[in-house]
Amino acid sequence: MDRTQLIETAQAIVADGKGILAADESTPTIGKRFASIGTESSEDKRAEYRGLLFTTEGMEEFISGVIMFDETLRQSTLNEGVPFSKLLTEKGVLPGIKVDSGAKPLAGHEGEKVTEGLDGLRERLEEYYELGARFAKWRAVITIGDGIPSRACLEVNAHALARYAALCQEAGLVPIVEPEVLMDGNHSLDTCFGETEETLSIVFHELFKQGVMLEGMILKPNMVISALDCPEQASVEEVAEATVECFLRVVPSAVPGICFLSGGQSELAATQHLNAMNAMNDALPWKLSFSYGRALQAAALNAWGGKSENIPEAQKAFYHRAQCNGAAALGQYSNEMENQV
Ligand code: 13P
Repeated sequence: MDRTQLIETAQAIVADGKGILAADESTPTIGKRFASIGTESSEDKRAEYRGLLFTTEGMEEFISGVIMFDETLRQSTLNEGVPFSKLLTEKGVLPGIKVDSGAKPLAGHEGEKVTEGLDGLRERLEEYYELGARFAKWRAVITIGDGIPSRACLEVNAHALARYAALCQEAGLVPIVEPEVLMDGNHSLDTCFGETEETLSIVFHELFKQGVMLEGMILKPNMVISALDCPEQASVEEVAEATVECFLRVVPSAVPGICFLSGGQSELAATQHLNAMNAMNDALPWKLSFSYGRALQAAALNAWGGKSENIPEAQKAFYHRAQCNGAAALGQYSNEMENQV
């Protein structure tokens, strides 16, 4: 394990005012996103779309790294044939790769899932490093519901996250450790707080047991937030306060950065929440930034609409969203920025 390189990569991911673009939708998931704009999902269309995001001029001012799906890491720009990992590296953006193979039903535990993908992972990581990736992602999903999450679900997912993280560090890749407590359901902010606290404390216990170097990883969690169908929606300030309070309890200060997922929040809410956390606190032990998928791409995807002639408009929308989130990572975002597209 090259400790220095891992630490440098992790710190670069959370450089001031920068965060991650999560563009690692699996083929079925990007198919759903394309269906929402009436576009068929072919290999070339996927390359066109990812290419428009990656070639957006100036996106590197706010984006430190991009998480890709296996297919994307092997693709190139359609016009010039420049491999995406080369293109990003030359812009100073770190290529990342999703390495889990998805969340599958957990045997004996109805409604719960365990993320798979450990078999053969060491060999796959070696190849991804050769292809230019410098960090990786593994997402575990935790569902809140009647009597769940179970301790079993939390423990198997934490165990897998730690095994993945240890393998990544061995291969020279910074692990993005993503335990996502889902926003689905009608639970309150307080319930989300408790489940997130328990999930993270089990995850960090496993990371410790398995010898993962905390200085060379990034945490990618959910925010502490009201569920989508909760009748009482917490305010921006309440979400920001609860999230920071929860994380101060369970995330060791050796972790260089926390890059939140957006998890179904609107673009605006995801930016406002991140900004409020940074604006309220000037002495946190870790950087707080973003690793958004939908909340960075929704406007760009809609502006593109599957049509090549709309690429400049889509790039404008993506640049603007990245700029707003870059400002939020510094606590310097304001609602007026929304009018500056
Ligand atoms: P969202 O921000 O759309 O939740 O996606 C982030 C991600 O990478 C989920 O694994």
